[in-house]
Amino acid sequence: MSISCKRLVLSLISGLIMTSFTPLISAADTGIISVETAHVSLVFRITAEKQLEQLYFGEKLIDAEELVQLKKKHKPDTDRQYMLEAYTASGNRFVSQPALIAHHHDGNMSTELVFVSADQVMHDDNVSETIIHLKDRFYDFFVDLHFKSYYKEDVISQWVTYMHDEPTDVDLVQFYSAYLPVHSTQYYLTHFHGFWAGEMQLTEEKLQPGTKVVESIKGVRTTQSDNPSFLLSLDGELKEDHGEVIGGAVAWTGNFRMSFELDYQNILNVLLGMNPYNSRYTLPAGKTFHTPEVILTYSIRGAGQVSRNLHAWARKYNLYHGDDVRPVVLNSWEGAYFSFDEAVLEQMMTDAAEIGVEMFVLDDGWFGNKYPRNNDNAGLGDWQVNREKLLRGINHLADFANARGMQFGLWIEPEMVNPKSELFEQHPEWVVQQPNRELYLWRNQLLLDLTNPAVQDFIYNTVDSILTAVPNIAYLKWDANRHVENAGSTYLDPQKQTHFWIEYTKGLYDVYERIRSKYPGILIQACASGGGRLDFGSLKYHDEFWPSDNTDPLKRIRIQYATNLIYPPIATASHVSTSPNHQTNQVTPLKFRFDVAMTGRLGLELQPKDLDSEEKTFAASAISDYKKIRETIQHGDLHRLYSPYDEHGWSGQMCLSPDQSEAVVFIFSLTHHNRGDLPVIKLKGLDPGASYNVTELNKNNESFWGNNREFTGDYLMKTGMNVNVSNRYESAVFRLTLSGKVK
Ligand code: DGJ
Repeated sequence: MSISCKRLVLSLISGLIMTSFTPLISAADTGIISVETAHVSLVFRITAEKQLEQLYFGEKLIDAEELVQLKKKHKPDTDRQYMLEAYTASGNRFVSQPALIAHHHDGNMSTELVFVSADQVMHDDNVSETIIHLKDRFYDFFVDLHFKSYYKEDVISQWVTYMHDEPTDVDLVQFYSAYLPVHSTQYYLTHFHGFWAGEMQLTEEKLQPGTKVVESIKGVRTTQSDNPSFLLSLDGELKEDHGEVIGGAVAWTGNFRMSFELDYQNILNVLLGMNPYNSRYTLPAGKTFHTPEVILTYSIRGAGQVSRNLHAWARKYNLYHGDDVRPVVLNSWEGAYFSFDEAVLEQMMTDAAEIGVEMFVLDDGWFGNKYPRNNDNAGLGDWQVNREKLLRGINHLADFANARGMQFGLWIEPEMVNPKSELFEQHPEWVVQQPNRELYLWRNQLLLDLTNPAVQDFIYNTVDSILTAVPNIAYLKWDANRHVENAGSTYLDPQKQTHFWIEYTKGLYDVYERIRSKYPGILIQACASGGGRLDFGSLKYHDEFWPSDNTDPLKRIRIQYATNLIYPPIATASHVSTSPNHQTNQVTPLKFRFDVAMTGRLGLELQPKDLDSEEKTFAASAISDYKKIRETIQHGDLHRLYSPYDEHGWSGQMCLSPDQSEAVVFIFSLTHHNRGDLPVIKLKGLDPGASYNVTELNKNNESFWGNNREFTGDYLMKTGMNVNVSNRYESAVFRLTLSGKVK
């Protein structure tokens, strides 16, 4: 191990905190550069020709320096030809899609990157950053590769910056955040796709020679159909508790692209980042271009550990207020839609408070006067309270909620405008549009052009004036109900129209930065017709997301199972709605709906006065139970027990507190099972030498013969709980509390 690398590893171990960047390695070193976490190593080598080669990404090596001697197995014409560069650029001998295509000032379309130097910094005793500085062999074109290591969480994030000092502009044509060459015998890719009311459907496929692409070119509602995250299993199909798995995600709330190119040597060339689709970017000299972060993790302990790594990282380093406990919410949408006035809302709030709801959120329909927002046809953009519906304004409603011990939240959709609005009358030029083309409506609305600083100011000022006028708003539901059509901007120069896609997202982030710096305490939910904006870039500004407009519990089980493979339960807003369900017309028991909703951040999406008194009693008791166990659900480790995507017809999971003292176990029957065909739930992660008291919650009938008895962790993990949950829509929830040490 080179001395400088040893110093990095030592400082990680000893927790020594350095605040400034120190040179990690010089070009003169023979150089291995190793980025490490508790269980993962990512290793690079500088070749004799000063290229940066990626040698290894996988289970932690005891001594990464040993890789100095690594020779490729193949017999290539030259070593150089088969070298797997750490960051591929077009024009070199490289044969797969490159991470970078830059057109230099003289028209040269190639870039040859060579190593210049590397720095490291310890941000604290858990987070370190390594920057590898590269430069074109000839041109003054500079590329920095950034790697941030989250030691305990086993997460490495990567992003890239470009800068140049060429005489005139350089055009960036392709600009991925990460290139990852993976070498195994087979590759199984799990990715997520969907549609409105059916987001995050899990698909696993064995990769074949050629390129598999998962991408979005929609803008705004980028994750409604595909999600910028994946799991890659390297030794057969994805397994829950064992097997080599890489988990990854692009933290970008715009068009993304993840491509998996299996080449003739059976190497999988993975590219992750912003989508270059129609996005050529002109970079002037002296300016820096940042790619978004890509989040990577790896485990030999299957999908389960990969999810837990991502969840722990997200809670600590990504999600807003990731350390806090989330309140129980009642959102007015499915309970009232656009039909409400003060009296309706007061009654909803009174009823909600009675059953223990902690946050009342008023959804769409509260604004617009000249063009009242009584349906989705009008009013978007006119963010003044509708005086006819809400005589005493939002202040009165927020005070009313507070007086009943609840907080108050409000829905907004500030990026959008209806043509029937005062805003559109005043600023038609603010709308995303192309010359000589008709405007294309979605849900009767148009998109505001966030590349334009005037529009950014308008959105910021809208939010700021709402929050200033009603200081006791504690929560915003930020919606976005269309994607981009007519991509184009009246603000951007004609030659810079291709900047639109990137500048839109940057504009959105700028607005969020301003809002967050003035209102750090407020909770914000990310919603885009449901789960249309679910990515780690967006979650950086949000406390949670609305996974889908589909609140049918059977559908939600599958959506949330797949969602929680990547994104954490604490952020998964999961609401009990009415039956028959408004999206699917399915009739389901209230208990089943509550049990499903309790696997995430519990909320309600109904008119509480429609619950009869028995249902109200059940709801109040379920909410009260949830409050007792939510710390474990929201902050514990998720262990999946039965997959709803398997044929057996059950779904099951448990959350375990980090100190193993409490677990919450859920089991759902998704279909009818033959008499006697019962699930055996073998628990995971418990302390085998401890005894646990098992209590069933939300009970209609007792599902487990061992209710209120004590069992050892060993018993519960090896023998398991055989529970009586076998008919469609039967379910059970158990709370396990540590009652003592057996040995
Ligand atoms: C779409 C969201 O997903 C719904 O929850 C609701 O807020 C509506 N928009 C309101 O228009």
